[in-house]
Amino acid sequence: MAAVAVSHVYPLGSRLNERGRLEVGGCDVVELAEEFGTPAYVYAEDDMRSRARAYTEAFRARTERFEVIYAAKAFPCPAVFRLFAEEGLSADVASGGELHFALAGGFDPARLYMHGNNKSQAELDYAVARGVGHIVVDSFDEIDRLRGRSQRVMVRVTPGIKPTTHSYIQTGQVDSKFGFAVAEVSRAVEACRDAGLELCGLHAHIGSQIFELGAFERLAEVLSAMGEWPLLNLGGGLGIAYTRDDEPPSIEDYVEALLRRAPEGVTVLCEPGRSLVGNAGVTIYRVGTVKRIRDVRTYVAVDGGMSDNLRPMLYGARYEAEIADRFGALRGDPSGPTPRGDPCTIAGMHCESGDVLVHHAVLDDPRPGDVLVIPATGAYGHAMANNYNAVPRPPVIFCRDGDARVVVRRETYDDLTVRDV
Ligand code: LLP
Repeated sequence: MAAVAVSHVYPLGSRLNERGRLEVGGCDVVELAEEFGTPAYVYAEDDMRSRARAYTEAFRARTERFEVIYAAKAFPCPAVFRLFAEEGLSADVASGGELHFALAGGFDPARLYMHGNNKSQAELDYAVARGVGHIVVDSFDEIDRLRGRSQRVMVRVTPGIKPTTHSYIQTGQVDSKFGFAVAEVSRAVEACRDAGLELCGLHAHIGSQIFELGAFERLAEVLSAMGEWPLLNLGGGLGIAYTRDDEPPSIEDYVEALLRRAPEGVTVLCEPGRSLVGNAGVTIYRVGTVKRIRDVRTYVAVDGGMSDNLRPMLYGARYEAEIADRFGALRGDPSGPTPRGDPCTIAGMHCESGDVLVHHAVLDDPRPGDVLVIPATGAYGHAMANNYNAVPRPPVIFCRDGDARVVVRRETYDDLTVRDV
């Protein structure tokens, strides 16, 4: 059997190999499941690198003044900070813990931006002590907490833009816990000066998983109208494909939209998270039980669930699933063979009915022991993993040119009790 390409939802370079098995980063995922166990987050390292380069090249083709900042909340671990540092990106951190990861990954603190709507005094002290480049201030209380530090800061603005996306991940609308209302910005600027802070520019982030480029253009327009600043940070938010029908804008078109209304001479910053790592990762599971309820539904239960991917339960997010060595419905390109297989619901192993990863999958004769793959789990999967039902969190495996390495090991039962006193 010749190798077959898989849809754009999978990491770049993925394919079905000669044995009909999914390969990510040159590694056969059935073999990965045997070697590292399941569930596991599997990433194609080159996918992340190539998307980082797509951002840098899209900007470089249009301007000399730009900075691409990896929004680490999408997938925070030291290995990822190391990888994006090698690609020349900056990064943002949204807590003391994420700052700790960045430093553990050897990230230059001067290239870090610190976010948060309620940064504690301890987090601010940690950031200042470690030389974080910019703190993005979010409230008058925070400005007070920074008084007297010679710290570079930016002011986060709530621009009054409500993009089309799930309401939980809209952040630019007037009714938001983030940032300063447009009418308050001049007072915030004054407060920063009064506190002795070095104010370098404005920041806004309108939300996440956005396909509508017009919203980003409007954002550039709103911020540009708020005075002349050396730096304008337009946040992140570019959406990705979770299913084969999703056609998000390209990184190029997104960058073009950010720059179209930005004034000459300003340095434009953007903070992608999901669009750098989301499609780079898949989760592999082992099927444990297949329960056919006559005339009702077939449940295919896997050895993970809402502890490793909360997104279906929190946002109603839709994913695809396939058996790693028997791609059925979604094999190859969209014009490929017609779907075959049985309609199934992919359930997790947690103690609640809402623990469903994929409501409508079509699988080719699912059986216990199969390795099941859910693509596009690279962003906000590992990041939001939890220990519900005292389930140890999965490892993170980076694959490249056929070599696989563990960058975050699997949690053990002993890890689960290590904090108990
Ligand atoms: N900058 C700021 C200030 C942010 O708050 C975020 C995301 C980003 C950048 C990166 O946005 P991205 O490019 O990844 O869309 N847990 C949710 C997503 C929450 C996003 C929070 N902020 C999810 O799983 O969909």
